[in-house]
Amino acid sequence: MSERGDRTTSTAADGTDKPDRSTPWLPTARVGLVVPAASSDRVVSAASSDRVVLDAGSDRVVPTASPVRVAVILGSTRIGRFGPTVADWFAGRMRRRRDVDLDSIDLAAAGLPDQLTDEDEPLPAAVRELGERLAAADAFVVVTPEYNRSFPAAVKNAIDWFDTEWAAKPVTIVSYGRDTDGSQAAAQLRQVFGELNAVPIRRIVPIAKVWQRFAADGSWPRRDAELDESVNSAVDQLLWWARALRAARARAPFVL
Ligand SMILES: Cc1cc2nc3c(=O)[nH]c(=O)nc-3n(C[C@H](O)[C@H](O)[C@H](O)COP(=O)(O)O)c2cc1C
Repeated sequence: MSERGDRTTSTAADGTDKPDRSTPWLPTARVGLVVPAASSDRVVSAASSDRVVLDAGSDRVVPTASPVRVAVILGSTRIGRFGPTVADWFAGRMRRRRDVDLDSIDLAAAGLPDQLTDEDEPLPAAVRELGERLAAADAFVVVTPEYNRSFPAAVKNAIDWFDTEWAAKPVTIVSYGRDTDGSQAAAQLRQVFGELNAVPIRRIVPIAKVWQRFAADGSWPRRDAELDESVNSAVDQLLWWARALRAARARAPFVL
């Protein structure tokens, strides 16, 4: 658990500090999109040009000047949990992507109170700290077990503490269960995130019989082409949405 807690820093792997992007609607980083085919691969800045076109018919959105910041949120806080094995594996897969800047968030280490404050009360320090990390993210991955056909209370608590931090950003879900693939937990999460103006994407990563998929020593899952495809397509789609929505937020504030 402490190992996961140590990885909650927002410092990049190369030791550099992240830009201050705590105001989600006004990202400081400029973003670039490929204009439609006729204009070749010219990259234009969403912050400096009105001629940016989101090419809805193509996946030819190129990596932007700044990598996509993805927060992977581990939702299981149970003593003896299996979740870190799943979250570490998924984070390892995301780290293979050079265009991703990963922030691993362990709700067991986040220390969020389970009692919400009133609107005019100051936010607890743990909430402020996690809020800054969520606000800095361009996209979210929620790694969640299925408990009684839903997601754990710790995940709902974390969602409810925040609001605009989630908005106009894509969310995918890595769900798992001892028997089921966690798809009921995922379906309910999608419904909740919709209320918060997040964008739950079509592609998710459901993992059935999770204890049989990973080796007993917690090492990575057995070779599984279907799971590989599921991860790749979910990550590709998440990054597409993250870049598109980041550019959109740069062009105009999101309407709450
Ligand atoms: C309270 C509770 C409810 C559970 N409900 C389900 C369930 O509805 N479907 C399922 O497939 N597994 C269920 N399980 C089994 C969990 O999926 C399994 O224990 C998994 O390892 C939980 O993830 P964790 O170890 O990261 O907490 C449940 C486990 C707990 C503790």
